[in-house]
Amino acid sequence: MAETTLMEKLMSLCKRRGFVFQSSEIYGGLGSVWDYGPLGVELKKNVKDRWWRAMVHARDDIEGLDAAILMHPRVWEASGHVAGFTDPLIDCRTCKARFRADKLQDAQCPQKPSKHPGEHSTCDLTEPRMFNLMFKTFMGPVEEQAAVIYLRPETAQGIYVNYQNVLNSSRQRIPFGIAQIGKAFRNEITPGNFIFRTREFEQMEMQFFVKPGTDEEWFERWREWRLAWHHSIGLTPARLRWHQHGPGELAHYAKAAYDIEYEFPFGWNEIEGIHNRSDFDLGRHQEYSGKKLEYFDQAANERYLPFIVETSAGADRVALTLLADAYREEIVEGETRVVLRFHPSVAPIKAALLPLVKKDGMPELAERIYHDLKRQYPCFYDDSGAIGRRYRRMDEAGTPFCCTVDGDTLKDGTLTVRERDAMTQVRVHQDQLASYIREQVG
Ligand code: GAP
Repeated sequence: MAETTLMEKLMSLCKRRGFVFQSSEIYGGLGSVWDYGPLGVELKKNVKDRWWRAMVHARDDIEGLDAAILMHPRVWEASGHVAGFTDPLIDCRTCKARFRADKLQDAQCPQKPSKHPGEHSTCDLTEPRMFNLMFKTFMGPVEEQAAVIYLRPETAQGIYVNYQNVLNSSRQRIPFGIAQIGKAFRNEITPGNFIFRTREFEQMEMQFFVKPGTDEEWFERWREWRLAWHHSIGLTPARLRWHQHGPGELAHYAKAAYDIEYEFPFGWNEIEGIHNRSDFDLGRHQEYSGKKLEYFDQAANERYLPFIVETSAGADRVALTLLADAYREEIVEGETRVVLRFHPSVAPIKAALLPLVKKDGMPELAERIYHDLKRQYPCFYDDSGAIGRRYRRMDEAGTPFCCTVDGDTLKDGTLTVRERDAMTQVRVHQDQLASYIREQVG
């Protein structure tokens, strides 16, 4: 399958089945901003729930946080974002297209796509200008410099400025972490590839505070745990790899960094970053706020500024990764079926309830079972069309189980449960159906 075609098919499926829609579509759309439909919101919520469970609920050494998007503007001076969160921007005076100066070799000239910008005879490129990626707005009624605030470009800073509040209000001691899921905004110059790089997105970030000198050890542990998490949500291991940042690539705050990359139809790209941020962040906030942010280690009777190991993943990017990884076209009995082979734990709908025919009390019984199951996990009731077509609709939605009420159900209480990937069928008694599905979904 041609690579671009696969992304186009995926985008079309996402719209058709209600995963992702373009923002403000009826007004012509808003560039690189997307909305999640009924199935997409469940998929992304499952990603966030799995992350929260692994990072917060399953551990004793991580606390959760939900900091506000708007923060004091000094935060972004301290963090280095006002001065340094910039991309070099180049415009073409001829075609008015805009490019990142450091990515010209990945871009196409809009007038002659076989060439890179600047290579076609009519190209007239400007010198690079530095462009800050933060969205600015104003707080209060007066639009003046003193009222400028930013939409946060990362959730991490909300954690740093709350580190002492969490420490003082919980029973944590170093080493410990703070986890947060929330929106971030970046005025990307070259967004694209559907929901891969967008201007509004959600991050799942965890900052782990450690004693200086133990940071490299913790960094390695977190690398191992985070890769294991991506395996646990069902991503194909062969499509995941590490990319170590070279000295020229490191962000201004990082002492060391690795990305977890996935092999998308458009190439290997980052889905999560693991960073050793040293004491850069707390050091800067201590300097800019004038507040002491040192930790007092009672047992050792010593004070120090903790080092931070950060794990930072994009919820939208992980959702796209799951979609790309799950998408299959298979020939079944001479026909093509499109199926999303999601890991059951992230599948938006866990089970569909289908009466074989719309008579003999089958719809009523199927609906009763559906309402019972729906109290426990997301289910779907469908009685329209031939059973084969209903299976196909559920395959496209990635629903792992289709449960059919047929003539035998009326006699002995058992339903046919069809598994999405192998398409094998077993009979399960209606009294055991909920626990059967719960076990399989995990
Ligand atoms: N706090 C560190 C930080 O923000 P980053 O590498 O810039 O690091 C971390 O971003 C993750 O956030 C990325 O791995 C990606 O999953 C997600 N992300 C970053 N920019 C994004 C964008 N424009 N659209 C969607 N996701 C994005």
